[in-house]
Amino acid sequence: MTFHDCRFPVPKGEGSARTGAEAEIVGQNIPKKGFLMQIAGQAALVTGGGSGIGADVARHLAGLGAKVAVLDVNREGAEAVAKEIGGLALSCDITKADQAEQAIAAARAAHGPLRILVNVAGILIPGRILGKEGPLALEKFAKVIEVNLIGTFNMMRLAAADMAGAEQLADGERGVIVNTTSVAAYEGQIGQVAYAASKAGIVGMTLPAARDLARSGIRVLAIAPGLVATPMMLNLPPDIQKSLGESVPFPSRLAEAREFSRLVQHMVENVMLNGEVVRLDGALRLAPK
Ligand SMILES: NC(=O)c1ccc[n+]([C@@H]2O[C@H](COP(=O)([O-])OP(=O)(O)OC[C@H]3O[C@@H](n4cnc5c(N)ncnc54)[C@H](O)[C@@H]3O)[C@@H](O)[C@H]2O)c1
Repeated sequence: MTFHDCRFPVPKGEGSARTGAEAEIVGQNIPKKGFLMQIAGQAALVTGGGSGIGADVARHLAGLGAKVAVLDVNREGAEAVAKEIGGLALSCDITKADQAEQAIAAARAAHGPLRILVNVAGILIPGRILGKEGPLALEKFAKVIEVNLIGTFNMMRLAAADMAGAEQLADGERGVIVNTTSVAAYEGQIGQVAYAASKAGIVGMTLPAARDLARSGIRVLAIAPGLVATPMMLNLPPDIQKSLGESVPFPSRLAEAREFSRLVQHMVENVMLNGEVVRLDGALRLAPK
């Protein structure tokens, strides 16, 4: 694994020992401390941060004052985003235990123990179980599971170990992990058997992971986007983009990455959210094809 040596200046934070924001809720029995995790000054790591949704999450968290590590197997993408936001670029394949360990160690050295992990990295290799050329190559199925499910788990387990050593915030919280699944986890289309299985695995991990990590004060959540306007989608012909957008009941358009990032922000801030998958899809339910 190659690390990008250049540590770009990080935004001025308020220190990781900062406790949650004070909540003044008149007439409600909510503790004064707690309720909101303060993002400013916290160490965040975004996988897949070199492109699309992950790049937007990295920009958004940096805009809120987090110290952001941008991790991607695509080094140029990670470096470009890190440079733009004053973050740390990490070149890493999330499926490799040693690379991921080194990446988290480098992020800790630059920013302190992790508080926020957003796992966005993922791939889609389409293919029917029985195609024109015979059964789907086992390597293709395994590759998608390896990146989307095992890679997400790899980052989650290592980030959790890093978070577990951090000082407690309000409510005893130490950190939060947001994983990225897809509506295909529920309504996988023809040719999406590997992708749907990998994303359903992320849905299945969410509650047991939250239960496992509860004693360490670490929350686990997941977002299931529908159709998001990222470079992958925006490279499709305009008429196809339009018809995809029109398939969404309301609002009838592709989602924007910044809508995903706003949900990440809310999930990080709202300490009572845990063990849940939230669909972000405008009521879309995917058809078979
Ligand atoms: N765009 C959509 O409509 C949509 C819908 C549902 C779910 N999603 C999910 O959202 C996530 C992001 O999608 P996107 O459209 O931004 O895709 P994208 O291709 O623009 O970004 C994915 C990033 O992940 C990185 N990556 C891939 N394999 C990696 C690995 N092994 N290690 C480290 N980084 C790796 C890529 O280099 C890339 O920068 C994916 O998990 C995808 O499955 C996207």
